[in-house]
Amino acid sequence: MDIQQSGKLGIIGGGVMGEALLKRLLAQGIYLPEQVVVSDLDQERGQLLAKRYGVKVTADNVEIATTVETLLLAVKPQVFEVVAASLSSPQKPGYPLIISILAGIPLKKLEAAFADQPVIRAMPNTPATIGAGMTAIAAGRWVKPEHLKQSQAIFGAVGEVVEVPESLMDAVTGLSGSGPGYIAIAIEALSDGGVAAGLPRAIAAKLALQTVLGTAQLLQETGMHPAELKDRVTSPGGTTIAGITALEESSFRAALINAVRTASQRSKELGA
Ligand SMILES: NC(=O)c1ccc[n+]([C@@H]2O[C@H](COP(=O)([O-])OP(=O)(O)OC[C@H]3O[C@@H](n4cnc5c(N)ncnc54)[C@H](OP(=O)(O)O)[C@@H]3O)[C@@H](O)[C@H]2O)c1
Repeated sequence: MDIQQSGKLGIIGGGVMGEALLKRLLAQGIYLPEQVVVSDLDQERGQLLAKRYGVKVTADNVEIATTVETLLLAVKPQVFEVVAASLSSPQKPGYPLIISILAGIPLKKLEAAFADQPVIRAMPNTPATIGAGMTAIAAGRWVKPEHLKQSQAIFGAVGEVVEVPESLMDAVTGLSGSGPGYIAIAIEALSDGGVAAGLPRAIAAKLALQTVLGTAQLLQETGMHPAELKDRVTSPGGTTIAGITALEESSFRAALINAVRTASQRSKELGA
């Protein structure tokens, strides 16, 4: 989505994720530098962002909250209470739209801190930092269709976006949130397998990475079901079916299913 936004955007917390969003929102022309104001506790960090992107930087969170149309919270969850307390009451009812990417902070808590304001809880993942993210968004009770459209435009700048009811956020965390960790291990293990089969490490690492990337791209671009791709690459009595048999004997599918379920459960426990 490349609709240029008319209002101003405030970003509280110009760290890894705040900068990733800022960079792509500007690069895609969704916001112009003069429409964005960033607040970061670390003054040096703020100056760096101002220099790098030409945006306004302030240490005054109240100034941001009262002048922007959309306010993105991108601080660590541990400082949520402090940041929420530092924000004044809104400029007019329903403004600004609050978008939180703070892991584990539920809508209930966000809505208690920002009474009567539209609030969206978002869960991006680490590949968002290079524009290949997967973000799930859940809407609070005052959210209108235009707010959803706005947050879809914002997270669309760093990858794909889906909307889910908040009750599914723990499942999202267990799959796309924690998933980069699982896939990183899979890539490392494939590379180890290559070394075990006699490949030099650098070549094995390259083959493993490109195989995962290429397979994901092939499935995405063709829309092919993963089972169909698996069927296509398994010739009778061949090498791939021999490898798949070994994977099934090692409960590969069950391991991944359990990983997602266990991480989702852990997310639920942490949020309780
Ligand atoms: N990185 C990811 O892949 C990822 C994925 C999903 C969700 N998230 C969520 O995104 C949020 C940010 O993560 P991150 O990795 O970008 O963290 P980060 O790099 O530590 O960025 C947070 C920034 O906020 C600043 N800050 C702290 N208190 C502030 C305040 N009162 N006012 C203004 N700025 C303040 C911090 O400054 P100081 O360093 O001086 O404290 C820091 O620059 C987290 O809530 C996390 O759960 C991140």
